[in-house]
Amino acid sequence: MTELLDCPKCRKAISEDKGSLKCSNCKITFPNIHGIPWLFRSPESILIQWQARTTKLLQMCLVQSAQIEQELLKVDLLSETKDRLKTLKKAILENEKFLQEFLADLWPDKNPKTVNFAVALEEKVGATQTLESYFNNIFRDWSWDSGENEKALKCVSEILPKNFRPKTMVVLGSGAGRLTYDLHNKLKCEHTIAVDINPLLMFLFKDIMAGEVHQLWEIPISPMKLENVAKKQNLKFSKPTAKGISYLFTDASNLPFKDKSLDVVLTPWFVDIVKQDLRFLAQRINRALAMDGHWVNFGPLGFQHFENSENYTVEEVRKILTEEGFEISDAKENVLPYLSSPYSGMGRSETVVSFIAKKKKEAKEPSYYSPLPDWITDFKKPIQPDRDLKYEIARYHLGFQILNCIDGKTSADTITALIAKHYGVSLVQAKEIVTGFLIEKFEK
Ligand SMILES: C[S@@+](CC[C@H](N)C(=O)[O-])C[C@H]1O[C@@H](n2cnc3c(N)ncnc32)[C@H](O)[C@@H]1O
Repeated sequence: MTELLDCPKCRKAISEDKGSLKCSNCKITFPNIHGIPWLFRSPESILIQWQARTTKLLQMCLVQSAQIEQELLKVDLLSETKDRLKTLKKAILENEKFLQEFLADLWPDKNPKTVNFAVALEEKVGATQTLESYFNNIFRDWSWDSGENEKALKCVSEILPKNFRPKTMVVLGSGAGRLTYDLHNKLKCEHTIAVDINPLLMFLFKDIMAGEVHQLWEIPISPMKLENVAKKQNLKFSKPTAKGISYLFTDASNLPFKDKSLDVVLTPWFVDIVKQDLRFLAQRINRALAMDGHWVNFGPLGFQHFENSENYTVEEVRKILTEEGFEISDAKENVLPYLSSPYSGMGRSETVVSFIAKKKKEAKEPSYYSPLPDWITDFKKPIQPDRDLKYEIARYHLGFQILNCIDGKTSADTITALIAKHYGVSLVQAKEIVTGFLIEKFEK
């Protein structure tokens, strides 16, 4: 796969040296983590971020188990409640043990290098991307027999032309990988590259494709029956192992593939979760695709950008694609069940948009996508108080004043009078503000 890749930092060609990818221009050797190339502008920084997330998750498991232990001390518990709590505790602790061992490869270096602060800020794993964000995707892909995987494959297959045989397919946000495998197999691709940033999902995908079996407890949200409170799931695949699938840790927001190098880019359940505007993602995908190459999309349009103008509808998506050099060959919408565990009383469905779009023109070259604004990455720049920050400033200011009065002697009435005077509002308004604030803190 090296011949398809560019350095994520300088965009020059990279080479392979003793089994690792390397950029001679930037003098970076990209490590292999769990045998998978870790291709980031600042590999150490991203590694530290995932290490921190792992440590946090393991600690969370221990805290949850300690809380359950405390609850078990209550005298008036039903025997059924005790059984449920014990089952939960066992599942949480076994998951903690499994994850600790399974993710140990995230610590490849016993004496890690210090990371240059400015470089570390160039790349950041989004706050919503945690190790536990996609547990249900793992179970759906490799243990439930709910028919969701088959439905997804059918939906995507229906929009693909007959005899569609791409040579190189890259899957952005491949996740635990089931759809990647199913399509790779169905289309008989020569080479498929699964791209993701989440170590848990990628380690599992790689291992399962190699025929390994792992076990993880599923803890469904609404189990209804004691037998469904926690389910030990075998994560495995019964079919022959996959040939021609490679794995790559990299940030799809900047897509370090060479210009015009790919036949197909697949974005399954992906375009609405990346932080950047769809237009820039479209430009990036266009750049990496060969002329007449295809972008195949599958998933909802659940954009949740801070800027409303970037939360697009189907009509806007169509227009953006056309403006960015694509011709949509086929598109459709389906309502599909989504991550509905057979062991949970709750499930959901989503309207997914599938399209296949052919690259007909070159698009504009997108600039580097930085997850952080320059007033954070450049310490000398003045900090810009945007809409959100202005609101936060006002909230913190007020919150600080209220909290500062809390000394074990002052009542809500006294604080209300101070706030009313300071902000020039009526006592009734001030009381609403103070009570609202105290309730929020209490409930938290
Ligand atoms: C909603 S999940 C979909 C996963 C998989 N395609 C599926 O259908 O189950 C989104 C995936 O995108 C990955 N992801 C999020 N941000 C990414 C980024 N910047 N670059 C690459 N992958 C990313 C997540 O780790 C996750 O696996």
